[in-house]
Amino acid sequence: MAEAEHARPILRPQRLPAVVESVRRRILLVDDDPDLRLLLRTTVAADECAVEEAGSAEEAAELARFWRPSAVVLDVGLPGRSGLDLCRELKLRDVYGSPGVVLLTGGDTNGPEARLAGADALLRKPFSPLDLMATIDRVLEGSSERLDAAEAEGADQLLAYARDLSRLAQVERAQRRLLQHAYRQTVTALTDALEVRNKATGRHALRVHRYALELTEALEPSLLDDPSLEYGFLLHDIGKIGVPDSILDKEGPLSPAELLLMQQHPVIGAELLSDVPLLDGEGLQVVRSHHERWDGRGYPDGLEGDEIPLGARIFALADALDAMTSERPYHRKLSWESAVDEILRENGSQFDPQVVQVFALREQRLRRTQHDLARTA
Ligand SMILES: [Fe+2]
Repeated sequence: MAEAEHARPILRPQRLPAVVESVRRRILLVDDDPDLRLLLRTTVAADECAVEEAGSAEEAAELARFWRPSAVVLDVGLPGRSGLDLCRELKLRDVYGSPGVVLLTGGDTNGPEARLAGADALLRKPFSPLDLMATIDRVLEGSSERLDAAEAEGADQLLAYARDLSRLAQVERAQRRLLQHAYRQTVTALTDALEVRNKATGRHALRVHRYALELTEALEPSLLDDPSLEYGFLLHDIGKIGVPDSILDKEGPLSPAELLLMQQHPVIGAELLSDVPLLDGEGLQVVRSHHERWDGRGYPDGLEGDEIPLGARIFALADALDAMTSERPYHRKLSWESAVDEILRENGSQFDPQVVQVFALREQRLRRTQHDLARTA
């Protein structure tokens, strides 16, 4: 084939906005090894690309004519017509839609040969799947050609995949931790904002969150597997956003109408958060049921005993402990010892006996938590 034809500038697909592009990316995989095609398909499909496969150059040319792929991942060493030959045709004939071409070689094909055939990139087998994805991205973005790729370490393609899988798992774990930290900070900022409005409670959400986590860990640690639980602890009173300041800050007893409005805050909170996936689970039940009582005389639903979700039963005690040991507009704070006595008195009436039992065992630890938080406030 004439040299002038190889020198023809490569037409690259237009860059589309990210969302549209991820939907419309069409990747054609051409390799005679069905096992490798399966690995390639798994890799490429994970990036939400549409994928087609071909086992020979002839089959690939036929498919590309009608499907017009965005990129072709093309093995050089195909039986019959070679990958280099197909690459030249894909680049020279408009009928294929000028796809980007990533050549895969397990042999001696070098960068200059790939360049002459019009390829955009060359990867040596075994290749890293992460490297392949990055290369496809670069080719589709039209960034600089990569025709001198080194093979992945080791001689086995599966090993290269396993190594990348392990790297991805590490990255994913780190990102998950980062995301959870960001969620917690966001939720804490929201609770702080609520407490600025209702100054009397001062860091109440943070204290009850810590008390409730301690009690949950002692009573039923498996509940902590549900990540929504602690967000429920932190956001339990978010429904107070719908209660007027005049009621929240009122010194002295509330009128029946005011009490009714105040008792709506768990319902308002649960409605506000009902569509938030972060709270979907035990956390949302804590928000709705944290004022229920073991004897059924609580609100908003008058649930009784085991009908009350366990997270909410635990939280009810933590919330009451902090209410009693903090200054509020409507009462003076009790000493820690008096609050403990009051909780023991309410065993089996306001509080679940199992939760009281655990509280009695952990009470000194909770007291230290209160002390530590007071020092850092
Ligand atoms: Fe509440």
